Amino acid sequence: MPINIAIDGTAGSGKGTLAKQLAKKLGFGCLDTGAIYRSVAYYMIENGVNLSKSKNIEKAIEKIDFKVVFENQNGNKVQKNILNGKDLGDKIRTEQISLASSIVSQVKQVREFATKIQHEIANSFDVVVEGRDIGTVVLPNANYKFFLTASPQVRARRRLKQLKLPEDNFESVLEEILERDRRDTTRALSPLKAAEDAVYIDNSNQLPEETLKEMLSHIK
Ligand code: DC
Repeated sequence: MPINIAIDGTAGSGKGTLAKQLAKKLGFGCLDTGAIYRSVAYYMIENGVNLSKSKNIEKAIEKIDFKVVFENQNGNKVQKNILNGKDLGDKIRTEQISLASSIVSQVKQVREFATKIQHEIANSFDVVVEGRDIGTVVLPNANYKFFLTASPQVRARRRLKQLKLPEDNFESVLEEILERDRRDTTRALSPLKAAEDAVYIDNSNQLPEETLKEMLSHIK
């Protein structure tokens, strides 16, 4: 059986970076599940789907031609999100897609679509899987589970830096983070929450290498 490590957490908690670092350290693959929801959102926007009605999203998800593939780069398995045969690359990393992905991820058919892809990958090789519902819903039997978070202010600051935005965008980035927290934690299906058996880490006052060290200390 492949080894699965689940990392869940809030937007801007550093889970993406830490999942990659942990996977590299252990020689595992790394699956960014948010990228699947982002790719679905990208498809919906490109096809002019009105996201205010879940019926539209349900219809559109049936037609999507999407898959996740792993490309070997210097011995690392690198995730590619392929829509209609083309790698989406950074097109899914905009603020518009961030918000749209948190809307489409509320729809049952979208979650089922994404979960199926995640199960196929987790069953195929040793992998660190990061997202919102991995330890609770997707991989309840994962070998190790972590839940990462930090204060909204710290996370907004990190986001600002990551997106290379000037300081006067701080309030709007903070707003966007709070809005996503609200939507991700209150949605009816698979809301963001720590699994009971997850290691809970608030990394507001930690450097990434300190969080990584703490995570590694739990893995035998
Ligand atoms: O981690 P991220 O910011 O790339 O995720 C984008 C959105 O996708 C997020 O707002 C909620 C959703 N998501 C989810 O519902 N379940 C996951 N396992 C991962 C992401």
